[in-house]
Amino acid sequence: MAFNQLIWGDNLPILQQMPAASVDLVYLDPPFFTNRQFSITDKATQHTRQFDDRWSGGITEYIDWLYPRVAELHRLLKPNGSLYLHCDWHADAYIRVQILDAIFGADNFLNHLVWHYVMGASATKNFGKKYDSIFWYAKNHQQYTFNLADILVPYNPETIARSKRGEARYKQVLDETNGKNPGNVWTDIHPIQGNSIERVNYPTQKPEKLLERIILASSNRHQTILDPFAGSGTTLAVANNLGRYWIGIDESEAAINVCKQRLSQQKADFVCQKTINEDNPRL
Ligand SMILES: C[S@@+](CC[C@H](N)C(=O)[O-])C[C@H]1O[C@@H](n2cnc3c(N)ncnc32)[C@H](O)[C@@H]1O
Repeated sequence: MAFNQLIWGDNLPILQQMPAASVDLVYLDPPFFTNRQFSITDKATQHTRQFDDRWSGGITEYIDWLYPRVAELHRLLKPNGSLYLHCDWHADAYIRVQILDAIFGADNFLNHLVWHYVMGASATKNFGKKYDSIFWYAKNHQQYTFNLADILVPYNPETIARSKRGEARYKQVLDETNGKNPGNVWTDIHPIQGNSIERVNYPTQKPEKLLERIILASSNRHQTILDPFAGSGTTLAVANNLGRYWIGIDESEAAINVCKQRLSQQKADFVCQKTINEDNPRL
Protein backbone atom coordinates (compact mmCIF):
# COMPACT_ATOMS: atom_id res chain seq x y z
CA MET A 1 0.00 0.00 0.00
CA ALA A 2 1.53 3.31 -1.08
CA PHE A 3 1.68 6.25 1.29
CA ASN A 4 2.96 9.81 1.18
CA GLN A 5 6.43 10.45 2.62
CA LEU A 6 8.40 13.52 3.53
CA ILE A 7 12.06 12.71 4.20
CA TRP A 8 14.66 15.02 5.72
CA GLY A 9 18.22 14.29 4.60
CA ASP A 10 20.69 14.28 1.74
CA ASN A 11 18.80 12.70 -1.12
CA LEU A 12 21.61 10.44 -2.44
CA PRO A 13 21.70 7.82 0.35
CA ILE A 14 17.91 7.98 0.61
CA LEU A 15 17.41 7.35 -3.11
CA GLN A 16 19.94 4.50 -2.92
CA GLN A 17 17.73 2.75 -0.35
CA MET A 18 14.52 3.01 -2.34
CA PRO A 19 13.32 0.04 -4.43
CA ALA A 20 13.93 0.00 -8.20
CA ALA A 21 11.00 0.69 -10.54
CA SER A 22 8.82 2.13 -7.78
CA VAL A 23 8.04 5.65 -9.04
CA ASP A 24 5.89 6.85 -11.97
CA LEU A 25 7.11 10.43 -12.29
CA VAL A 26 10.10 12.42 -11.04
CA TYR A 27 10.32 16.21 -11.00
CA LEU A 28 13.58 17.72 -9.78
CA ASP A 29 14.50 21.36 -9.29
CA PRO A 30 18.06 21.15 -7.94
CA PRO A 31 20.33 24.11 -7.24
CA PHE A 32 21.07 25.56 -10.72
CA PHE A 33 24.86 26.17 -10.42
CA THR A 34 24.29 29.90 -9.86
CA ASN A 35 27.20 30.13 -7.38
CA ARG A 36 24.94 32.00 -4.98
CA GLN A 37 23.45 31.36 -1.60
CA PHE A 38 19.65 31.76 -1.57
CA SER A 39 18.01 33.09 1.54
CA ILE A 40 14.62 34.45 2.65
CA THR A 41 13.69 35.53 6.16
CA ASP A 42 10.04 35.05 7.02
CA LYS A 43 8.85 38.37 8.46
CA ALA A 44 6.27 36.82 10.77
CA THR A 45 8.48 34.17 12.40
CA GLN A 46 11.93 35.69 11.68
CA HIS A 47 13.01 32.19 10.52
CA THR A 48 15.58 32.18 7.72
CA ARG A 49 15.17 29.65 4.95
CA GLN A 50 18.22 29.16 2.78
CA PHE A 51 20.07 26.80 0.51
CA ASP A 52 23.54 26.86 -0.88
CA ASP A 53 24.38 26.80 -4.59
CA ARG A 54 28.11 27.57 -4.44
CA TRP A 55 30.65 25.24 -6.03
CA SER A 56 34.31 25.94 -5.39
CA GLY A 57 35.21 23.10 -7.78
CA GLY A 58 33.26 24.69 -10.63
CA ILE A 59 31.08 22.85 -13.13
CA THR A 60 32.99 19.58 -12.70
CA GLU A 61 32.13 19.43 -9.00
CA TYR A 62 28.49 20.26 -9.78
CA ILE A 63 28.14 17.59 -12.47
CA ASP A 64 29.92 15.01 -10.27
CA TRP A 65 27.40 15.83 -7.51
CA LEU A 66 24.25 15.72 -9.65
CA TYR A 67 25.14 12.72 -11.85
CA PRO A 68 24.80 9.93 -9.23
CA ARG A 69 21.50 11.40 -8.03
CA VAL A 70 20.01 11.35 -11.53
CA ALA A 71 21.36 7.82 -12.03
CA GLU A 72 19.44 6.72 -8.92
CA LEU A 73 16.30 8.50 -10.13
CA HIS A 74 16.54 6.61 -13.42
CA ARG A 75 16.76 3.32 -11.49
CA LEU A 76 13.68 4.25 -9.45
CA LEU A 77 11.47 4.97 -12.46
CA LYS A 78 8.97 2.36 -13.58
CA PRO A 79 9.29 1.19 -17.22
CA ASN A 80 6.68 3.71 -18.40
CA GLY A 81 7.81 6.50 -16.06
CA SER A 82 9.39 9.82 -16.97
CA LEU A 83 11.53 12.53 -15.42
CA TYR A 84 11.44 16.33 -15.66
CA LEU A 85 14.65 18.14 -14.71
CA HIS A 86 14.31 21.90 -14.12
CA CYS A 87 17.44 24.05 -14.66
CA ASP A 88 18.56 27.23 -16.42
CA TRP A 89 21.31 28.69 -18.59
CA HIS A 90 23.96 28.24 -15.90
CA ALA A 91 24.29 24.48 -16.48
CA ASP A 92 21.55 23.35 -18.88
CA ALA A 93 23.91 22.36 -21.72
CA TYR A 94 26.10 20.28 -19.38
CA ILE A 95 23.12 18.67 -17.67
CA ARG A 96 21.45 17.62 -20.90
CA VAL A 97 24.51 16.12 -22.54
CA GLN A 98 26.73 14.96 -19.70
CA ILE A 99 24.01 13.72 -17.36
CA LEU A 100 20.63 13.11 -19.00
CA ASP A 101 21.73 11.81 -22.41
CA ALA A 102 24.43 9.76 -20.70
CA ILE A 103 22.04 8.12 -18.22
CA PHE A 104 18.73 7.92 -20.12
CA GLY A 105 20.14 7.70 -23.66
CA ALA A 106 19.53 10.50 -26.18
CA ASP A 107 16.74 8.39 -27.75
CA ASN A 108 14.69 8.82 -24.60
CA PHE A 109 14.77 12.62 -24.69
CA LEU A 110 11.15 13.71 -25.15
CA ASN A 111 11.21 17.50 -25.07
CA HIS A 112 12.92 20.69 -23.97
CA LEU A 113 10.23 22.74 -22.23
CA VAL A 114 10.86 26.45 -21.98
CA TRP A 115 9.24 28.24 -19.06
CA HIS A 116 9.33 31.85 -20.18
CA TYR A 117 8.53 34.20 -17.33
CA VAL A 118 7.08 37.49 -18.35
CA MET A 119 8.75 39.99 -16.05
CA GLY A 120 10.68 43.18 -16.73
CA ALA A 121 14.21 42.59 -18.06
CA SER A 122 16.69 44.62 -16.01
CA ALA A 123 19.91 43.73 -17.91
CA THR A 124 21.64 46.69 -19.54
CA LYS A 125 24.69 45.01 -21.07
CA ASN A 126 22.99 41.86 -22.32
CA PHE A 127 19.61 40.58 -23.46
CA GLY A 128 17.48 39.69 -20.43
CA LYS A 129 17.63 35.99 -19.51
CA LYS A 130 13.97 35.18 -19.15
CA TYR A 131 13.44 31.45 -19.26
CA ASP A 132 14.16 28.22 -17.42
CA SER A 133 14.71 24.91 -19.17
CA ILE A 134 12.86 21.77 -18.17
CA PHE A 135 14.20 18.60 -19.82
CA TRP A 136 11.74 15.75 -20.13
CA TYR A 137 13.06 12.20 -20.54
CA ALA A 138 11.28 8.85 -20.58
CA LYS A 139 12.72 5.68 -19.21
CA ASN A 140 11.52 4.24 -22.52
CA HIS A 141 10.39 6.64 -25.27
CA GLN A 142 8.08 3.95 -26.70
CA GLN A 143 5.88 3.69 -23.57
CA TYR A 144 5.37 6.80 -21.49
CA THR A 145 2.29 8.60 -20.12
CA PHE A 146 1.08 11.76 -21.87
CA ASN A 147 -2.47 12.91 -21.02
CA LEU A 148 -2.93 15.68 -23.57
CA ALA A 149 -6.67 16.01 -22.86
CA ASP A 150 -5.87 17.04 -19.26
CA ILE A 151 -3.55 19.93 -20.13
CA LEU A 152 -5.25 21.67 -23.05
CA VAL A 153 -5.08 25.48 -22.98
CA PRO A 154 -7.53 27.99 -24.49
CA TYR A 155 -7.18 28.92 -28.15
CA ASN A 156 -5.81 32.37 -28.79
CA PRO A 157 -8.27 35.25 -29.38
CA GLU A 158 -7.46 35.38 -33.12
CA THR A 159 -8.47 31.71 -33.58
CA ILE A 160 -11.67 32.26 -31.58
CA ALA A 161 -12.55 35.39 -33.59
CA ARG A 162 -12.02 33.59 -36.90
CA SER A 163 -14.16 30.71 -35.72
CA LYS A 164 -16.94 33.12 -34.71
CA ARG A 165 -16.74 34.75 -38.12
CA GLY A 166 -17.57 31.31 -39.51
CA GLU A 167 -14.21 30.48 -41.09
CA ALA A 168 -14.72 26.76 -41.59
CA ARG A 169 -11.25 25.51 -40.63
CA TYR A 170 -11.22 27.43 -37.34
CA LYS A 171 -14.85 26.66 -36.54
CA GLN A 172 -14.27 22.93 -36.99
CA VAL A 173 -11.20 22.97 -34.73
CA LEU A 174 -13.03 24.81 -31.94
CA ASP A 175 -16.14 22.66 -32.27
CA GLU A 176 -14.20 19.42 -32.07
CA THR A 177 -11.65 20.13 -29.34
CA ASN A 178 -11.67 21.62 -25.85
CA GLY A 179 -8.45 23.57 -26.26
CA LYS A 180 -5.02 23.32 -27.79
CA ASN A 181 -1.72 21.69 -26.95
CA PRO A 182 0.27 24.13 -24.78
CA GLY A 183 3.39 23.55 -26.89
CA ASN A 184 6.86 23.55 -25.39
CA VAL A 185 7.20 27.29 -24.73
CA TRP A 186 5.10 28.13 -21.68
CA THR A 187 4.33 31.82 -21.34
CA ASP A 188 1.10 31.52 -19.36
CA ILE A 189 2.58 30.64 -15.95
CA HIS A 190 3.66 33.50 -13.72
CA PRO A 191 6.57 33.15 -11.29
CA ILE A 192 6.00 33.53 -7.56
CA GLN A 193 6.29 37.18 -6.59
CA GLY A 194 5.92 39.17 -3.38
CA ASN A 195 2.14 39.37 -3.64
CA SER A 196 1.45 35.83 -4.96
CA ILE A 197 -1.29 34.12 -2.93
CA GLU A 198 0.56 30.81 -2.92
CA ARG A 199 3.87 32.30 -1.71
CA VAL A 200 5.25 30.52 1.37
CA ASN A 201 8.48 32.51 1.72
CA TYR A 202 10.88 29.87 0.45
CA PRO A 203 13.65 30.85 -1.98
CA THR A 204 13.07 29.86 -5.63
CA GLN A 205 9.57 28.50 -4.90
CA LYS A 206 7.98 27.33 -8.15
CA PRO A 207 4.35 28.06 -9.11
CA GLU A 208 1.73 25.36 -8.59
CA LYS A 209 0.43 25.80 -12.14
CA LEU A 210 3.79 24.66 -13.52
CA LEU A 211 3.68 21.45 -11.48
CA GLU A 212 0.00 20.93 -12.28
CA ARG A 213 0.76 20.82 -16.00
CA ILE A 214 3.64 18.39 -15.53
CA ILE A 215 1.83 16.07 -13.12
CA LEU A 216 -1.41 16.01 -15.11
CA ALA A 217 0.49 15.35 -18.36
CA SER A 218 2.71 12.57 -17.09
CA SER A 219 0.91 10.69 -14.33
CA ASN A 220 -2.47 9.26 -13.43
CA ARG A 221 -4.44 9.22 -10.19
CA HIS A 222 -2.94 7.00 -7.45
CA GLN A 223 0.46 6.92 -9.13
CA THR A 224 3.60 7.97 -7.24
CA ILE A 225 5.46 11.25 -7.82
CA LEU A 226 8.96 11.82 -6.41
CA ASP A 227 10.61 15.21 -5.82
CA PRO A 228 14.13 14.74 -4.37
CA PHE A 229 14.73 18.52 -3.99
CA ALA A 230 11.35 19.33 -2.48
CA GLY A 231 12.07 22.86 -1.20
CA SER A 232 8.77 24.40 -0.13
CA GLY A 233 6.85 21.30 -1.28
CA THR A 234 5.21 22.66 -4.42
CA THR A 235 5.32 19.27 -6.17
CA LEU A 236 4.01 17.49 -3.10
CA ALA A 237 1.13 19.93 -2.55
CA VAL A 238 0.03 19.71 -6.18
CA ALA A 239 0.42 15.91 -6.34
CA ASN A 240 -1.67 15.64 -3.19
CA ASN A 241 -4.43 17.87 -4.60
CA LEU A 242 -4.49 15.83 -7.79
CA GLY A 243 -4.92 12.49 -6.00
CA ARG A 244 -1.39 11.19 -6.57
CA TYR A 245 0.89 9.62 -3.96
CA TRP A 246 4.08 11.56 -3.33
CA ILE A 247 7.57 11.31 -1.87
CA GLY A 248 9.49 14.49 -1.06
CA ILE A 249 13.10 14.75 0.12
CA ASP A 250 15.07 17.79 1.25
CA GLU A 251 18.26 18.21 3.25
CA SER A 252 17.14 21.50 4.79
CA GLU A 253 15.25 21.39 8.07
CA ALA A 254 13.59 24.70 7.20
CA ALA A 255 12.34 23.26 3.91
CA ILE A 256 10.91 20.20 5.68
CA ASN A 257 9.11 22.46 8.16
CA VAL A 258 7.62 24.55 5.34
CA CYS A 259 6.50 21.37 3.55
CA LYS A 260 4.95 19.99 6.74
CA GLN A 261 3.00 23.17 7.34
CA ARG A 262 1.89 23.46 3.70
CA LEU A 263 0.72 19.84 3.49
CA SER A 264 -0.93 19.89 6.90
CA GLN A 265 -2.92 22.94 5.81
CA GLN A 266 -4.36 20.90 2.97
CA LYS A 267 -5.03 18.02 5.39
CA ALA A 268 -2.64 15.66 3.59
CA ASP A 269 -2.00 12.27 5.13
CA PHE A 270 1.75 11.63 5.30
CA VAL A 271 4.67 10.34 7.33
CA CYS A 272 7.75 12.45 7.97
CA GLN A 273 11.14 10.82 8.60
CA LYS A 274 14.56 12.17 9.41
CA THR A 275 17.66 10.60 7.93
CA ILE A 276 20.93 11.74 9.40
CA ASN A 277 23.97 11.79 7.18
CA GLU A 278 27.08 11.85 9.37
CA ASP A 279 29.16 13.18 6.48
CA ASN A 280 26.98 16.21 5.94
CA PRO A 281 27.74 18.93 8.51
CA ARG A 282 24.69 20.91 7.42
CA LEU A 283 22.37 18.39 9.12
C1 LIG B 1 15.58 25.12 -6.05
S1 LIG B 1 15.14 24.56 -4.44
C2 LIG B 1 13.63 23.66 -4.75
C3 LIG B 1 12.42 24.57 -4.80
C4 LIG B 1 11.12 23.82 -4.95
N1 LIG B 1 10.96 23.30 -6.28
C5 LIG B 1 9.94 24.71 -4.59
O1 LIG B 1 9.03 24.92 -5.41
O2 LIG B 1 9.92 25.22 -3.47
C6 LIG B 1 16.32 23.30 -4.19
C7 LIG B 1 16.20 22.54 -2.90
O3 LIG B 1 17.13 21.46 -2.93
C8 LIG B 1 17.54 21.21 -1.59
N2 LIG B 1 18.78 20.42 -1.68
C9 LIG B 1 20.01 20.80 -2.10
N3 LIG B 1 20.87 19.76 -2.04
C10 LIG B 1 20.18 18.70 -1.58
C11 LIG B 1 20.52 17.34 -1.30
N4 LIG B 1 21.74 16.87 -1.52
N5 LIG B 1 19.55 16.52 -0.83
C12 LIG B 1 18.30 16.99 -0.62
N6 LIG B 1 17.92 18.26 -0.85
C13 LIG B 1 18.84 19.11 -1.34
C14 LIG B 1 17.70 22.60 -1.00
O4 LIG B 1 17.64 22.55 0.43
C15 LIG B 1 16.52 23.33 -1.64
O5 LIG B 1 15.40 23.31 -0.79
